[in-house]
Amino acid sequence: MRRRWREQQNDSVDLSTWLYGRRLPSPIMSASGTSGHGAELAAFGDLSLIGAVVVKSLAHFPNEGNPAPRVGVVRTGMINSVGLPGPGVKRWIDDYLPDLIRLDANVVVSVWGRTRADYITAVEQLVPVASHLTAIEVNVSCPNTEKGGEMFGHDPLETKEIVRAISQSCPLPIGVKLSPNTDRYVKVAEAALEGGACTLVASNTYLGQVLRKGSNTSALGTSSGGGVSGIGILPLSLRIVKDLNKALPGCDIVGVGGVYSASDALAYLYEGASAIQIGTAAFFDPRTLFKVSKELRETVREQGATSLGDLLTTKREL
Ligand SMILES: Cc1cc2nc3c(=O)[nH]c(=O)nc-3n(C[C@H](O)[C@H](O)[C@H](O)COP(=O)(O)O)c2cc1C
Repeated sequence: MRRRWREQQNDSVDLSTWLYGRRLPSPIMSASGTSGHGAELAAFGDLSLIGAVVVKSLAHFPNEGNPAPRVGVVRTGMINSVGLPGPGVKRWIDDYLPDLIRLDANVVVSVWGRTRADYITAVEQLVPVASHLTAIEVNVSCPNTEKGGEMFGHDPLETKEIVRAISQSCPLPIGVKLSPNTDRYVKVAEAALEGGACTLVASNTYLGQVLRKGSNTSALGTSSGGGVSGIGILPLSLRIVKDLNKALPGCDIVGVGGVYSASDALAYLYEGASAIQIGTAAFFDPRTLFKVSKELRETVREQGATSLGDLLTTKREL
């Protein structure tokens, strides 16, 4: 009885947030690449109650990814060199999208490519199912093979051109997932907005390397290293969100990196994010997104507010 009462009280708290031109039921989203290609997290909670499922980055072609081992545990989270394996957009539409539609999830599709044309083709393949999608998230943390392997997301002009071309090919709102591995992230973010993006996602993993214990060889299947994520990057990505919010006030930001709890999520929201994504924490416990949503709802209520919006307005004014 007491539990039911508590649940009812919690249900009256409004966690909704405004992103991608629509109201999402919660600011908690999955982070691309950390919970499969589709509805895998549905085994642990109701996907229609989270902000959105952001699916693993898709190319217009199927991709095998990197050799194993692809992930390693580090003291501050994890490192991965998964290498963007995936079925390609067309097979994803047939094999994974139907479950997400059936479960009434908001679906954000992350796209990647090796050339500008790759990105455009991936997005063009999504146009026929655009009415089932919430947004496109452009993963620009990929080497541009036409420019000697420099990351797209480290070049403001290239980022702007990709986003512009995507916005001309597809009616969906566009988020750009920034790379944190450049001191030009504000310039890249500005360029993304100029190109037609409405949302900045900050940020992707941090370049890193881990060796096998007592050895001089990489602990990952690729000798070039991988991307570090998890609790240790929270202050780093939080700083990026803070800088973006200061330089580009009013712009929609999604904070991502090292969120394990409601207070981690609130840190991003206080620094100006409208939503947050959870990745590594869900590897350690796939219920994390649903636990953090519940914890956030309880926190809002404990602070005497009836909505997350009210809580944020009050705290930001203090
Ligand atoms: C195993 C793994 C795979 C990932 N794959 C992708 C991906 O396909 N596309 C992408 O944009 N980010 C990818 N990321 C980055 C995450 O979406 C997220 O930005 C990053 O892990 C930081 O958040 P976290 O600390 O909550 O994990 C991946 C991260 C991990 C750990």
